[in-house]
Amino acid sequence: MPSVAERPRIGVVGLGYWGPNIARNLDALEGCELAWCCDADDAARAKYSVVYPDTRFTADLEEVLADPGLDAVAITTPVSTHAGLAERALQAGKHCFVEKPLAQDAVAAERLVSLADERRLVLMVGHLLCYHPGVRQLADLIERGELGEVYYLYSQRLNLGKLRADENALWSLGAHDVSVLLELADGAPNEVTARGEAYVRDGVEDVVFAYIRFDSGLAAHLHLSWLDPHKERRLTVVGSERMATLDDMALERKLTIYDKGFDPAADTYGEYITRSGAVVSPAVPNDEPLRLECAHFVDCIDRGETPRTDGPAGLAVVRVLEALQSSLDAGGTPQPVAAGSPSA
Ligand SMILES: NC(=O)c1ccc[n+]([C@@H]2O[C@H](COP(=O)([O-])OP(=O)(O)OC[C@H]3O[C@@H](n4cnc5c(N)ncnc54)[C@H](O)[C@@H]3O)[C@@H](O)[C@H]2O)c1
Repeated sequence: MPSVAERPRIGVVGLGYWGPNIARNLDALEGCELAWCCDADDAARAKYSVVYPDTRFTADLEEVLADPGLDAVAITTPVSTHAGLAERALQAGKHCFVEKPLAQDAVAAERLVSLADERRLVLMVGHLLCYHPGVRQLADLIERGELGEVYYLYSQRLNLGKLRADENALWSLGAHDVSVLLELADGAPNEVTARGEAYVRDGVEDVVFAYIRFDSGLAAHLHLSWLDPHKERRLTVVGSERMATLDDMALERKLTIYDKGFDPAADTYGEYITRSGAVVSPAVPNDEPLRLECAHFVDCIDRGETPRTDGPAGLAVVRVLEALQSSLDAGGTPQPVAAGSPSA
């Protein structure tokens, strides 16, 4: 692993809708320096060069990568460019943060994982929800067995959101839910099904319904849409002992745990009685997930540690999205998920 300056010097590539949020967080972190910002668009550079007067600006990634004092780049450009730009950055010996999804196909994602591995560089994917304090709490509840056996879960990620042309609702929104699902579930799914419709733009699905099934019997359903009157970001987990909902749009009571389920009736064989017990909402810390994500990237560079959402985790998400896309293309026919190597 290359030696790192006392405060890692990082460049952000892509200053469109999302990149400025990453730049803002990196700039605010004491542990690193926002050394470069890069965007092909003159207006984007002009806008942010006023905000970050001590940062160098360029339209050309090669100029950023040629800086021998630069430790890392954060790639926040459109998904079609992720693999190519990340490959260049890793080849230039820079640690690399890539926005989700890591790449548009598993072959490209595998190449990035191998390259980072060979060069002993940090490769981290921006699976933001994996840094959300509410998701961490939910993962802890499951880990401690408080929900019992997790039977199934479902999520709604809906909005009248950004209408994209270069990726559909599955890849744009589903990357979030699949990353959380893979964190919460044991193992990888074996079969997926997806149906969706492209109402606004030809060939780009605005609404997708995805079903993901694991060998264990665990199942997940994702409702993804940027064509919806409601803004919802909700995940419900149904376990044998308890059920839980994480509602990211709620200002209070983001996480709710329901002591609900069925208990065997003591006096009759094979009958069940409904249990409807306490409903509790533990406090969820208000920390900005994006700040936690950026700080984690800096820590991993500093300490040479493996990120929570490392290259193999990003590759696993791409494999599931790729299988779901095959199902979408095949009109909803179930598709297998490609198996990974043990490390991926
Ligand atoms: N984590 C999240 O919640 C979240 C939310 C929104 C977007 N994103 C991700 O952020 C990424 C960017 O999305 P966006 O909505 O900001 O896109 P965008 O189109 O608004 O912005 C992309 C920017 O990249 C620049 N760019 C493109 N190619 C370039 C190149 N080769 N060199 C330099 N600059 C280049 C463009 O000029 C543009 O300013 C995507 O991967 C998206 O999935 C993540």
